[in-house]
Amino acid sequence: MRLEGKVALITGAGRGHAEAIAKRFAKEGASVSICDILPVGELENQVGTDIEKAGGKVLCSQTDVSKEDQVQELVDHTMAHFGTIDILANVVGIAGPTKDVWDMSLAEWKQTLDINLDSLFLCCKAVLPEMIRKRSGKIINFSSGTGKQPLSHRTPYATSKMGVIGFTRTLAADVGRYNITVNAICPGGHEDRTVELIRARAEYMNKDFDEEGFRRNLTAKNSNQVLAGRWCADEDYVDKGSGPDDAARMAVFLASEDSPNITGQDMNTGGGVMW
Ligand SMILES: NC(=O)c1ccc[n+]([C@@H]2O[C@H](COP(=O)([O-])OP(=O)(O)OC[C@H]3O[C@@H](n4cnc5c(N)ncnc54)[C@H](O)[C@@H]3O)[C@@H](O)[C@H]2O)c1
Repeated sequence: MRLEGKVALITGAGRGHAEAIAKRFAKEGASVSICDILPVGELENQVGTDIEKAGGKVLCSQTDVSKEDQVQELVDHTMAHFGTIDILANVVGIAGPTKDVWDMSLAEWKQTLDINLDSLFLCCKAVLPEMIRKRSGKIINFSSGTGKQPLSHRTPYATSKMGVIGFTRTLAADVGRYNITVNAICPGGHEDRTVELIRARAEYMNKDFDEEGFRRNLTAKNSNQVLAGRWCADEDYVDKGSGPDDAARMAVFLASEDSPNITGQDMNTGGGVMW
């Protein structure tokens, strides 16, 4: 129960990493306020009910985290319901378009940056007054391996995830004096997302994509041919690509009192991938 008595706000919790974090935080004793762009009934059915059945406390909201008024409403609602916010996990992120800059509209560029970066600014801006008042807080942002290396034909995503690291380091420096830590997690790409990405790139480049062969190669652990730095996975030390649970365990550590002096860092949970 490393988060007993804490209140955590987690964005994008309808599935994926944020769902795993919400469930793990609740298991560790935190009351969780979760939001997603999905209708609130769906969020409750998909995630909220599981948390309640396991004995956790959960508040579900429908929020578009790129919209300032909706973010403020989410924070006000959480404060009114749970009384405070100790932990903010900014997990929402979209993959954005697979296109080169010269093929991309300004609207496509902006949508990725709005959702992946503006949301961080808006959520932190809305939650920080409470953390500053308490002289305590933990903020966890989601970057990616793509926060540290390029991803061809995906400039908005790569720019946003590199931006998450810049935002994290700068905010960490600004709020350290209030005993607030700010860190980023860089998860590994799980297999289905990697396949989606490679398929989109093949379509965009008018190339064939042998999905079965690609998956077989990953399974056969020939993944050094696909992505650099897979040695540990190839020799079976760690799970290939890791997954949301590793990121969720890291999030618990960063949200707990176990990490008082860790701030401004970007932690890889890529299952042996070394970024
Ligand atoms: N999945 C991966 O392989 C991977 C790898 C590296 C980094 N990441 C990062 O981890 C984070 C989580 O990724 P994931 O794959 O688990 O996500 P996901 O795509 O599985 O889920 C994202 C959730 O966010 C919600 N959402 C989308 N736009 C929203 C908005 N404007 N407001 C509120 N909710 C919104 C969606 O409805 C969805 O439930 C992202 O920031 C992503 O960039 C993921």
